[in-house]
Amino acid sequence: MSEKATLNVEGKEYELPIITGTENEKALDISKLRGSSGIVTLDRGYKNTGATTSAITFLDGERGILRYRGYPIEQLAEKSTFLEVAYLLIYGELPSVQKLEDFRNKISEHTMIHEDMKKFFDGFPSNSHPMGQLSCLVGALSAFYPESLNPDATEEEENLNIIRLLAKMPTIVSWIHKKSLGHPVMYPKNDLNYVHNFLNMTFGQITEETEIDPVIINAMHKLLILHAEHEQNCSTSTVRIVGSADTNLYASVSAGISALWGPLHGGANQAVIEMLESIKNDGGDVSKYVEKAKDRNDPFRLMGFGHRVYKNFDPRAKILKEACHEILDKLGIKDPTLDIAMQLEQVALDDEYFIERKLYPNVDFYSGIIYRALGFASEEFTVLFALGRLPGWIAQWKEMHDNKEPIGRPRQIYVGETEREYVDIENR
Ligand code: SDX
Repeated sequence: MSEKATLNVEGKEYELPIITGTENEKALDISKLRGSSGIVTLDRGYKNTGATTSAITFLDGERGILRYRGYPIEQLAEKSTFLEVAYLLIYGELPSVQKLEDFRNKISEHTMIHEDMKKFFDGFPSNSHPMGQLSCLVGALSAFYPESLNPDATEEEENLNIIRLLAKMPTIVSWIHKKSLGHPVMYPKNDLNYVHNFLNMTFGQITEETEIDPVIINAMHKLLILHAEHEQNCSTSTVRIVGSADTNLYASVSAGISALWGPLHGGANQAVIEMLESIKNDGGDVSKYVEKAKDRNDPFRLMGFGHRVYKNFDPRAKILKEACHEILDKLGIKDPTLDIAMQLEQVALDDEYFIERKLYPNVDFYSGIIYRALGFASEEFTVLFALGRLPGWIAQWKEMHDNKEPIGRPRQIYVGETEREYVDIENR
């Protein structure tokens, strides 16, 4: 017998079905509420509202749990590769040796991007932000592959759109890096694995064979896996709602890239490094900045702290904190911002303001320190977040399509002027 809740409004009762998920999460199904009562719900920022049911990611903010298709993030970060995690997220199961090989081979056939896409770079101002470039270039793929516009594509045609995007993203990201330096772009070497190929295109030099330190390759796998998926966050919800209008995958992901750009979301990793740098340049007094973050009259926030869902340590931040030390030690890098980050974390975690609000370091707090150690500029950190999040966006877009979800169109409560007559301009 399905559970029900009863809503009593102005003496009238309405029954609401209760939905229970496989992890015993419960939701009131209000899909018929307006039809039966004329009443809608209001929830700014959707802090308490589920947009869908999904089988891709489970996260428990109170217990600091994150699983992709049931597999704990700690195990995937330790044992898997980014391409294997991409396969898991998109197709639902860990691939066999043969399936992973086929997947890798299919991707290697599509890593090149049309030479005409180079012309876009000629138009970007030299100081244009990499995220603006990325959003533009990914959206432009729909121009080069017009067959991707077909909302009634067969499964095979839709899968080719997916493979093309996964294959071309590293090339696009590496070209953005090369163009920022005024260096010639590198082309994909398809005998290298996905991450190694990306790093070679990014840091390789046409003039000589480039050795990429395995420490850097492993660190990149871990970083991309940790960023790969995170259920209905701001950018993923954007991809889903844009895709719900039967918009093609490339334009939907382009919209997600724009949402991720925001400093409250994926842009936080750049903002964290800039914050740590300013604390360092201001004498390194972390307590002063913790006090600023607590002052309601001061717009300053501790970037990399707090999370809409995690009210415990973000499990990804825990893994990244360890990886930070390991990678900097192995690369022999002493980064003073890491020391400041550690001090800041300790001071904040001991402070009543942060304890009371359950504000902990999130995925963005340590990632920027690692990205910088790997040789990226801070403006590129969010582009790397997007490279990692791509399989998650694709998986969620595919799930929304496979489930034939309706176009997203939230309601509102109107609080403007009631009806009034038009007044001719001479009488105003
Ligand atoms: C990501 O959703 C996801 O899953 C996102 C993500 C993913 O993988 O996709 O995990 C990636 O976006 C991580 C978050 C990165 N952003 C930052 O690090 C920016 C700094 N953090 C905040 O701006 C904030 O914590 C948010 C945006 C992340 C969450 O904001 P909420 O849930 O809307 O919480 P809130 O703004 O209502 O804050 C609640 C209270 C407020 O104080 P009071 O009004 O109760 O007195 O906590 C305070 C806030 O002022 N607060 C902070 C703070 N974050 C919240 N105070 C100081 N510094 C902070 N960082």
